[in-house]
Amino acid sequence: MTHDTASVDTALTYVDKHQQQFLDELFELLRIPSISTLPRHKKDVRRAAKYIARKMDGLGLRKVKVIKTDGHPLVYGEWMEAPGKPTVLLYGHYDVQPVDPIELWNSDPFEPVVRNDNIYARGAVDDKGQMYGLLKALDALMRAYHGLPVNVRVLIEGEEEAGGESIEAYVREHPQKLQCDVAYIADTGMPAPGVPCIMYGLRGITYTEIEAKGAKQDLHSGEFGGVAPNPIHALALVLAGLKGADGHITIPELYSQLKGVGAEERALWDRSPVDVPALLKREMGVDVLPGEEEIDPRERLAARPTLEVHGIRGGFIDEGAKTVIPAEAVAKVSLRLPPELHPKDVLPLLRKRVAELCPPGVTMTVREIHSGEGVSVPLDNVYVRAAEQALEQEWGRAPVYERGGGSIPIAALFSQTLHAPVVLMGSGLPDDNIHAPNEKYHLPNFYHNIRQAVRFLDILGHDPAVLARPGRMSAPAHANGDATSAARAKAKAATKA
Ligand code: BES
Ligand code: MN
Ligand code: MN
Repeated sequence: MTHDTASVDTALTYVDKHQQQFLDELFELLRIPSISTLPRHKKDVRRAAKYIARKMDGLGLRKVKVIKTDGHPLVYGEWMEAPGKPTVLLYGHYDVQPVDPIELWNSDPFEPVVRNDNIYARGAVDDKGQMYGLLKALDALMRAYHGLPVNVRVLIEGEEEAGGESIEAYVREHPQKLQCDVAYIADTGMPAPGVPCIMYGLRGITYTEIEAKGAKQDLHSGEFGGVAPNPIHALALVLAGLKGADGHITIPELYSQLKGVGAEERALWDRSPVDVPALLKREMGVDVLPGEEEIDPRERLAARPTLEVHGIRGGFIDEGAKTVIPAEAVAKVSLRLPPELHPKDVLPLLRKRVAELCPPGVTMTVREIHSGEGVSVPLDNVYVRAAEQALEQEWGRAPVYERGGGSIPIAALFSQTLHAPVVLMGSGLPDDNIHAPNEKYHLPNFYHNIRQAVRFLDILGHDPAVLARPGRMSAPAHANGDATSAARAKAKAATKA
């Protein structure tokens, strides 16, 4: 079949003509406070799932259903009526992060508004805007082709921001229902406006709560101070002991297994037009990048393990003074792990180190809240070539390649369980404030994201190299694979071109 450019142009025109309608629909979704980690929002999460299912149905997907899980529901829909064409698994998430500190928002996080060409709302870019963009791309293609150029399965989750356990169970139990040639995830960013990006790696994470217990009840600090265990101070000692001011985590095994960054991968990074350290300082509003000073910040962001404290609870935090020695305290601590480090290995090491550092009179337990594997995706395949073409057509320049520091736990599982190459192609910007007050999505990027999805799916449906696909990737598991070898392959491909 020859490539029917008329159809893709019709689909793109459809997107351009329906900008306002697409935005209105996204706004409806953004108004639903689907915060997955807070139990009091369970019903809202469900409402968001139903809204998406209704929209999937409306655009013509088949077998649309809201799938119950032990946690929040998944939404599934498919269109498998393009025999001989590849099958694309589209993924996104409809859940969002909490909004606190609410007083720092300039407008209601669940009443979206457009200001200065940005959509402001919790979930605007992470990930409702990007995820909904995929559905709108399908919508436009359906109208233009009276069908789709490829087969699609769409799986949207409502628990990504809370660890994604339910989708993991679902994918493990039903790999046959999700069979695909490639998975397409729109939940990442680009380094600067106008610079499209394909991510080839993400870090894993293990998120814990360290609970410290001292005396059997709170104590008067005059009566007992000097002889009493203080769980808050004990936590401070442990936290300071786990990672010093030099940014180095005091668990040596975390470093002995690191693969590092090879010359080829560094060369790939150097092709990016962005001055990463300057960008980071600007985005954070600081003039130093504390941490492992001798190590390239780009490497620290993606290829090194990190340990961060997210919050400490305990003792007296109200106004005024209260002379109390608390009986217990809790710290929330997570580690980000490059793909060669695995949560199941790291957790016992963390527990051991916490026990070593814990002062006498206090007991500490490290409770795992959630964990997810990192991933490294190969770049040397026809699907990534198609994604490159789509991005180049949409943005007028070739994409850059980055390893992301964030985590999308399901990416590793798609790679491992479905043996599918994963294309991580998103449209967030570094100043989008994800997980923070005043999250935004650059409005033009909302439309670019839809258009790049239209182009990508269209290319997958017509490109001879894709249609002659050699079957699925022969190597079974690319999750936790070798980011450096992926980069090497890519760098080689680039030199040849
Ligand atoms: N979309 C992000 C992950 C991300 C952000 C990837 C920026 C690449 C660039 C995702 O929604 C996210 O925030 N994930 C969580 C996962 C965790 C809760 C298991 C994260 O990274 O904190
Ligand atoms: Mn996300
Ligand atoms: Mn997120």
